Amino acid sequence: MNRTKNYYDGIARGYARLYHEEQKKKIELLCPFFPKEGIVCDLGSGDGVLNSYLEKTSVISLDLSFELLSLNSSACKICVDIEILPFQNESLQGVCSFTVLQDTPQPESVIKEVWRTLKNEGIFCVTFLKMSQKAKRIEETLLENFVVELRLEEEKDLLFVCRKIEK
Ligand SMILES: C[S@@+](CC[C@H](N)C(=O)[O-])C[C@H]1O[C@@H](n2cnc3c(N)ncnc32)[C@H](O)[C@@H]1O
Repeated sequence: MNRTKNYYDGIARGYARLYHEEQKKKIELLCPFFPKEGIVCDLGSGDGVLNSYLEKTSVISLDLSFELLSLNSSACKICVDIEILPFQNESLQGVCSFTVLQDTPQPESVIKEVWRTLKNEGIFCVTFLKMSQKAKRIEETLLENFVVELRLEEEKDLLFVCRKIEK
């Protein structure tokens, strides 16, 4: 985890130039499904490329990298490991996470935390690198826990729109 944090802290100033165009293409595919109101959490938000797509909602940005968060314009930023989310059960309308889960040691823990903190019928818009060794287990955990409403494949990522339906 420290390696991930150090890597993103180190490239923070150049992150937008390196990755924003690539990330915007993924965000634009999923943004029609983002909640239009309520609190939406951006897990592994980086410098906040997602913020302008979530204008009418309250965005909470979470990331390990203090340097990327310092460039993020969100009004609410928390520097934490997303394997434990600092929110009450069923408190969020939506959760987004773009190209992050493959970097986490236990993506299953993150997915279970998303399920815990989402309201019933809340939306989880998530992408992860399809070349990652963790891709298969991430997809399986999404399918076990959520109703998958959309699955897309683009150049580098698998993209999902998932809905929490109480069992
Ligand atoms: C490829 S970047 C994506 C950033 C942003 N989602 C975007 O679309 O531009 C991955 C981000 O996930 C963050 N990250 C990785 N593992 C994390 C963890 N366990 N907890 C919190 N953030 C994490 C990194 O610091 C980095 O900002």
